[in-house]
Amino acid sequence: MSDSEKLDQRIQLVASKEFGQKVDAWRRGQDDLPSRSEAIRRLVYLGLVHEEEFPMRLITAIIRPHKYEAVREALAELGVTGITASQVTGFGRQRGQTEMYRGAEYEVKEIPKVKIEVAVPSTMLETALQAITQTAETGKIGDGKIFVTSLSGAVRIRTGERDEKALI
Ligand SMILES: Nc1ncnc2c1ncn2[C@@H]1O[C@H](COP(=O)(O)OP(=O)(O)OP(=O)(O)O)[C@@H](O)[C@H]1O
Ligand SMILES: [Mg+2]
Repeated sequence: MSDSEKLDQRIQLVASKEFGQKVDAWRRGQDDLPSRSEAIRRLVYLGLVHEEEFPMRLITAIIRPHKYEAVREALAELGVTGITASQVTGFGRQRGQTEMYRGAEYEVKEIPKVKIEVAVPSTMLETALQAITQTAETGKIGDGKIFVTSLSGAVRIRTGERDEKALI
């Protein structure tokens, strides 16, 4: 923050001990050892810059093929207007073994999965993750995995609309 910027607002903040410790660990890594307040201001500022730079998230979910329709419906209910789905194969930490109940222990066995890619405004990220998790879950190994990537741009080709406007 520049010296000329006037500090005229007091903001009360109640936080956990762990939060304070994390802030302190971060500020000790700064060249000029800022105060705790200054460290929190800088971190919030960095978060705001990140949100501006990456206003969307790309969710990549690897799920069981028979769960695809339920996940698609759950996402549609949230207002998601587009999904890319592909048939893929892969394996997780059991290397595909226990799901098949056959094959030698050391052998890797790829299992068919569906890969869903969906770009959402970052405000929708948590509800989308919950919707996918709740509908794709069976509780057994091999339920799948979700990856989240910060997304900086999107274009609707027909109209040239950009970013969130290209998603809704
Ligand atoms: N680290 C990873 N990177 C990329 N894809 C992965 C990764 N882990 C899992 N996948 C994909 O997700 C699919 C399902 O993984 P899976 O649910 O078996 O994960 P897991 O970590 O073994 O969890 P669980 O113990 O519940 O089985 C895999 O077939 C693979 O396509
Ligand atoms: Mg697994």
